[in-house]
Parts: sequence; structure tokens; C-alpha cells
Amino acid sequence: MHHFDRIDGALHAEGAPLEALADAVGTPAYVYSTATLTRHYGLLREAVDAHRSALGDALIAFAVKANSNLSVLATLARLGCGADTVSEGEIRRALAAGVPGDRIIFSGVGKTDAELAFAIEAGVRQINVESGAELDRLIEVSSSLRQRGTASRAIATPNIAIRVNPKIGAGGHAKITTGGATDKFGVPVEEAIDLYARASASPHLTPVGLACHIGSQITSLEPMEAAFRTLREVVLTLRANGHAVSRLDLGGGLGVPYHGQTDTPSISDYAAMCARVLDGLEVEAAFEPGRLLAANAGVLLSRVIQVNQRADGRRFLVLDAGMNDLMRPALYDAFHDLVPVRPREGELLAYDLVGPICESTDIFARDRMLPPLQAGDLVAFMSAGAYGAVLASEYNSRPLVPEVLVDGDRWAVVRSRPSYEDMWAREPKADWLSR
Ligand code: LLP
Repeated sequence: MHHFDRIDGALHAEGAPLEALADAVGTPAYVYSTATLTRHYGLLREAVDAHRSALGDALIAFAVKANSNLSVLATLARLGCGADTVSEGEIRRALAAGVPGDRIIFSGVGKTDAELAFAIEAGVRQINVESGAELDRLIEVSSSLRQRGTASRAIATPNIAIRVNPKIGAGGHAKITTGGATDKFGVPVEEAIDLYARASASPHLTPVGLACHIGSQITSLEPMEAAFRTLREVVLTLRANGHAVSRLDLGGGLGVPYHGQTDTPSISDYAAMCARVLDGLEVEAAFEPGRLLAANAGVLLSRVIQVNQRADGRRFLVLDAGMNDLMRPALYDAFHDLVPVRPREGELLAYDLVGPICESTDIFARDRMLPPLQAGDLVAFMSAGAYGAVLASEYNSRPLVPEVLVDGDRWAVVRSRPSYEDMWAREPKADWLSR
């Protein structure tokens, strides 16, 4: 469900015509819908709250990696959404956007000592520990921070969860699976039990629970359910060993319909499944959705530079957006629907959708059937609000793609396109080259 619809034929973001936005901001540009973000958060909130007895007062923490624009984060923060973060930069973004520290989860497989210290001082809700080595460093960091703390600035022991690798991977592509036995994330069950005991024995940490995230763009509830059942078993074992366990972080990963397909699980089925597995455990659940909240809340606007019609029949639609602006097709063979902003008449033709980058992988799709398009036509890649702008780069010295947020019929540039001068300013010449 999204809020990019045609009004009098022309595609709009809510009440804002995409043509007018493209004229004002230029292309390529990402455009986000406040109404879609709000709707998706609301649907998940409602679905989770319907199972309060099993899921407790659950935290929904948006996975900032999916879309870290400050205005997008602020939009969600105002609704009460928390943040799942994986770096100091993401924690800083969440705080700057108005997410309180006690709604921020700090995950990630390689947190530096400085990042751990920053998270503790920021008072994050919990740090998800992914290895024994990290646990040891966290104990050190916490202990030295607390030694340095004064009575007036007491530093509490950080809450931690142990990330379990349930050896169940899932997801829309091998490159976005995280829960498999050979994936780098988390620790196997036996080790998680051991780490929990080590954390409990330390006066510098407060173990509160377990976390798990097995992959992204998951279109079946079964692997998730199996993984959560594993978490449940671990909770029971830990409690039998005398440990308190009050939280389960169920990660993100729920897939969204990229092709207009209808086989993705509904949000309410997902919440019901989670409730079924956690029923009677008396834990508070946390969710870390990224794609679910943001994917269909964004499009990437682009203009046709030209149509390269080859003598051998192959037809390339050359766009002014490249893989540096939208990496997903190049990285994961991902599908993004492309629609003309103004409907075009005529028999459908097969186009290869390509960008201007000098790489063969700068191709968004092959043989996409579209009405005849011409140079100057405005088009939109749909479902590009998650893992779109965040993965963009300035490869080929193309200025970083801007972002626009729409709310009703008002809109704002929420990340501007840098000028070439801005780009050069980040690269001071070595002093021996400057004269
Ligand atoms: N929690 C953790 C610990 C994660 O690693 C991730 C995503 C999420 C939550 C959010 O997952 P989601 O709900 O968005 O599926 N760039 C790839 C996706 C990488 C996902 C990485 N981790 C893509 O464009 O498909």
C-alpha cells in the first residue's frame, strides 16, 4: 500500500505532482510519502498492540540503515517509533531526529570501543551483543566508563541482549540472508547460553534478553517462526539456569510486494505468529522493521536521456539515474517497477533499463515491457524508499542524489544535491599540490 497514485493521469506523491517536483529539484531524486510511512507504522503498531498479552508493550524500532534521512526518522519518531542502529552515526542520526535514547537499539557485528562507549553514554535501550569477543570488550568499556563516572554523572550498567544465530537463514536473495550457520551474525544457541551466563556474572552489564534477525525481504513466515521457537527454547533454558529474561528482539525482515505480488505475509498474520510463539513467556517484544515501513514510501524519479535503438533490435532506455543512485538491482538482482509519470500511448515495447555509469552492471532490468518512451520523459522507480538513497554514492563523480519529503500537498528538499563546489570542498588539495 502506498500513496503514489495518478491524478488526471499524472503520477503524484500524495497531493504533490511528481512533474513539478522534478522541475523544481531536478532528476534523479528520491521522493518519500509521509502518509505511507505513517500508515505502515500504524498498521504494525495496531497489529502488535492487538497481542499485548503475548508481546507486552512492544517497541517498534525502525532499522535506520533502510532510510536514514533525518526528516524520515523525525516523521517516524513523532509517531513513537524507536530506532535500530548499527553505528555511532546512526545513533547520532536517531537522537538528532528526536528518538529518545531509551527507544534506540544498538546492533551490529563490529562495534568499536568508541561506539560502545558512545552508546552507553547516550543511554540506549539495549546493546545487542553478537560475539564473545564483543562481550569481553563491552565489559571492559562499561567498567572503565563507570570508574570514570562521578556521583553526579553516574553511568548505569548497559542493558544487553545476546544475538542468537539460529542457523536458519531466509530472505529474498543469498546476499541478504543473515541467520544461516555460516553468516557472520550472532552466536549459536549453546554459545548464547554461555555468553548470557558470563554477562550475568559481570557487575558491569545487565543482560535483559535475546535478539535474532535471520534475513531481509522474507516472504514466508515459516523460517521466522522456526527461529523464534528457537529463541523461546533458549529463554526457557536460561530461566531454568536461574537467569532473568525480560525481552526478545525479533529483528526485522518481513518482505514487501515489489512486483505487486500478493504472496507476502500480511502484517497481522506476522504479528499473530509472533504472539503465538511468545505466548506465556511474559517477555516484552521488539521489532526492527526497515523495508516494511520505508520501501513503498519512496520512489526514485529519473528522466530518459535517450533511447538507444540498435540495428540488431535491442532497445536501451538510457536514464539519468544510475546504479550509484539505486544499487539494489546491481547488488541483488532486485526488481523495481518502472512507470512513466505521464501515461504514454502505444503498443508495449521491450526495453533494457540502463543508467549512464560505465559498468555493465549499471542495468536496472532487461526486456521490461513499456509503452514507447522518448528523451525527456519522466519515469519513477517504485518501492525505492528502503535501501535506496542510503546506498547511493558519487561514483563517476555524479552528485549525491537528493531526497524530497512530501506531506499532503506540501513538500521539502530534505537532502539537497551537492554542487560540484560542495563536492570539491570535501577534497582539500594536498598542500604540496596546491601551488
Ligand atoms: N535488524 C537487523 C539486525 C538487520 O540487520 C536488518 C537489515 C534489519 C533489522 C532490517 O531488515 P528489514 O526489515 O529491512 O528487512 N540492502 C539490502 C537489505 C539489507 C538488510 C540488512 N539488515 C536490500 O536492499 O535488500
